[in-house]
Amino acid sequence: MSYLELHNIKKSYYLENEEFPVLTGIDLSFDQGEFVSIVGESGGGKTTLMNIIGGLDSNYSGDVVLNGKSLRHDTAKQLDAYRRQTIGFIFQNFDLISHLTVFNNVMVSLQMTKLSHKQQEARARQLLEQVGLKDHMRKYPNQLSGGQKQRVAIARALASDPEIIIADEPTGALDSQNTQEILALLDEIAKDGKLVITVTHSETVANHGTRIVRLADGKISEDKSIKQGYEKSQANELSTHTLRFGATLKMALENMRYNLKRNLLIVFGAAIGIFSVIVMLGLGNGVQGYINHEIYSQVNPNAVQVTQNVSDSSQDPSKIVMKTKDQNRLKDIKNVKHVQDGYFVQGGTQLRMGRKNASISFMQTYNPTMLTKSITKGHAPKNGEIMLTKEYAQKLNKKHPYSLVGKKVTFYQNALNKQKHPVMLSKTLKVSGIAKANTGATSVTYDTIKSIYKSKGIKIQPTFVTVVIKGDVKNVKPVQNKIKSFKNDKKKATYQITGVGGMVDTLNTYITLAVNVLATIAGISLLVSAIMIIVVLYISVSERTKEIGILRALGSSKGSIRNLFFSEAFFIGLFSSALAIGLAELLQVVANNIAQRGINYSIMQITPGNIIFGFVVAIFISLLAALAPAASAARLDPIESLSYE
Ligand SMILES: Nc1ncnc2c1ncn2[C@@H]1O[C@H](COP(=O)(O)OP(=O)(O)OP(=O)(O)O)[C@@H](O)[C@H]1O
Ligand SMILES: [Mg+2]
Repeated sequence: MSYLELHNIKKSYYLENEEFPVLTGIDLSFDQGEFVSIVGESGGGKTTLMNIIGGLDSNYSGDVVLNGKSLRHDTAKQLDAYRRQTIGFIFQNFDLISHLTVFNNVMVSLQMTKLSHKQQEARARQLLEQVGLKDHMRKYPNQLSGGQKQRVAIARALASDPEIIIADEPTGALDSQNTQEILALLDEIAKDGKLVITVTHSETVANHGTRIVRLADGKISEDKSIKQGYEKSQANELSTHTLRFGATLKMALENMRYNLKRNLLIVFGAAIGIFSVIVMLGLGNGVQGYINHEIYSQVNPNAVQVTQNVSDSSQDPSKIVMKTKDQNRLKDIKNVKHVQDGYFVQGGTQLRMGRKNASISFMQTYNPTMLTKSITKGHAPKNGEIMLTKEYAQKLNKKHPYSLVGKKVTFYQNALNKQKHPVMLSKTLKVSGIAKANTGATSVTYDTIKSIYKSKGIKIQPTFVTVVIKGDVKNVKPVQNKIKSFKNDKKKATYQITGVGGMVDTLNTYITLAVNVLATIAGISLLVSAIMIIVVLYISVSERTKEIGILRALGSSKGSIRNLFFSEAFFIGLFSSALAIGLAELLQVVANNIAQRGINYSIMQITPGNIIFGFVVAIFISLLAALAPAASAARLDPIESLSYE
């Protein structure tokens, strides 16, 4: 029994159902220590036969038997292992991976052995020294001569110390000097007790071996031994595994580095999508925060003003009264602390101080929706006091409005008495403080206004109430919803919420809407990024078809090829998200710097959550984009890929 036996190998190609037989029954046996040259006319099926022996092609009839074991029933994975471990390929066109250095080209094969990383590197160095490339390890293939490239290929083929070396016209592209040197190397390999099978057109090359096999018309026409075979070796192939994920990651990185400019552009393009998403999120947080900050700094969010929901209040004043029944209903809502009477007057109010007059269009009783911090000077009104807005204070004292605090002012109010006769109410009040105009109305306490009306025998009832909500601001919305849910006979809301507090909610709804619209736009740019990554990876697959063929010939599994493109996508995702995060943070610093000067608030607030989100989305989208290209790369036929130009 020989080491490698071919039994009645037949192979045909089919074009549109027409059969083109190439091999019509090959029987051969080889032993270790032989240096066999296969010669025959061009198109005679030599490469076809080599692909069958090398486990690249399993679509044939007949049997390849290695060491007594047939390859026929091997699974795809077992054939991968066979190519990795038992076969060393040397191609006519060298077929090195162009973006890897000489050293790393050899390392690709060594990374599939179970040697430790240190041992792999030591072996790569030793093999390259053996083929005379000690000083060229850091070069890229395009910086080497043809003979040097072929030596790299030989060193790579020897990586796992395989028992069979298959060389398809290894000297076809070399001059006679280099041819001699390569032949000497192959001879050395055979002397080590390996089986060397070369394909050649050259009789000189053929005569260099120990045996010549001639192929004609798909059959063996001659098989002659010209020299004694060498002593066979003790088989000591290194055990192997497919290219690990770590190795594909590294290769993807090397490839990106090799095509640096292009990949930087891709990363930049992909980063734009992620960047806009992060910026939109940060801006959304900031704007929402800013508006809430503005509102909450002027009103107490835990208090809401409630009035009767009447369409035309002037028709029947009694309709707008908040009766005890209403108050009790509001008081019973969960989380309501208390309900406070309020009264507002629209028109007919005058203030007088000395010879100055100010007529006030709207005034209401002081209530808890107003924050004490909106009072610029003085304090909130107590009984017998009045708080003015700056606007009205200026009407009474243009130059020094704040000097009014503590002074007396006369308050006049037109009203109707019980008999519906107009009366003029008046009272002297002390100015308690000055408030910002946009925050509080000119106001007195409910008791003060009540006593002013009472002096003319008029009894007033609250025209609004202030509902004070306990605890967190979170409690406010449910209470507001409950208030809005009360319905009258006409199935319309009984109450309405007035004052700035009621707006916060609406405003936030608008902001959320705006943020969502912007986020959608950002999402679209993300989609564009994803499509770009898909296109780029497809281009990468077609560009690297040859490399895929080489890797498959060296014994990488389909899974490793897939991982190679997932690795590339992973790095695109990783780098683009890093860039996007960096740019977004930079923009945040600049934007907030400007915003602090203008509105004294950080308008962009990118949270760690936003960053993690951007990062995860980037990686996820990149990997998703890689699905189809990676699958198509894995599906490529190794033989077709190898012959891809
Ligand atoms: N994928 C394929 N589909 C169809 N026909 C093919 C395919 N590959 C090879 N052939 C045909 O099979 C025949 C043998 O091709 P092969 O490459 O094995 O020849 P070869 O002996 O290696 O030739 P050369 O010395 O020129 O390299 C040729 O006629 C070729 O056209
Ligand atoms: Mg050929």
